[in-house]
Amino acid sequence: MNKVFVIYDSFFGNTEKVAQSIAAALNTQAVPVNQADAGQLRDLDQLVVGSPTRGFHPTEGISKLFSGLPKNHLTGVSVAAFDTRIVLETIDSKALRFLVDKGGYAANTIAKILEKMGGRLAAPGEGFFVTCEQGPLKDGELERAAESARKFQLLI
Ligand SMILES: Cc1cc2nc3c(=O)[nH]c(=O)nc-3n(C[C@H](O)[C@H](O)[C@H](O)COP(=O)(O)O)c2cc1C
Repeated sequence: MNKVFVIYDSFFGNTEKVAQSIAAALNTQAVPVNQADAGQLRDLDQLVVGSPTRGFHPTEGISKLFSGLPKNHLTGVSVAAFDTRIVLETIDSKALRFLVDKGGYAANTIAKILEKMGGRLAAPGEGFFVTCEQGPLKDGELERAAESARKFQLLI
């Protein structure tokens, strides 16, 4: 039996919903980052990590969890990263829209962290959209998340 783990952070519950959809498709549990520890990240086959994009980056909770782990902790683990992010067209200010577009997203940073720790990146970081800062998610995003997870599952 493969050992598969989904870790997420979430302020308003949107990333949590995506994480749960992914975890259900992978037949595992989604664990909030404040309940995750290094021991759970040992001897994994697959790991999915998700965060809301906040100021172009993952949350402090996600960054801290991984910065506290030994360098090669994820050697050989199949890894994937996702984030939630705002639909660009909903941002009124043209300048802010430009910044958010160019600033980057949490999933890319997480993917780099996981790879640096020895993980094998199974797919590029994936973004799921909210239509407003606090949500809700855009229609269809939970289904899209489950579909991505099923593709990820086939890779092992
Ligand atoms: C302080 C703050 C910073 C944010 N920064 C970004 C950003 O850089 N890029 C982006 O696309 N969305 C940004 N957002 C929107 C968040 O991505 C959105 O609130 C998040 O996806 C909601 O997920 P959650 O319900 O799991 O917290 C930001 C929101 C807040 C409150």
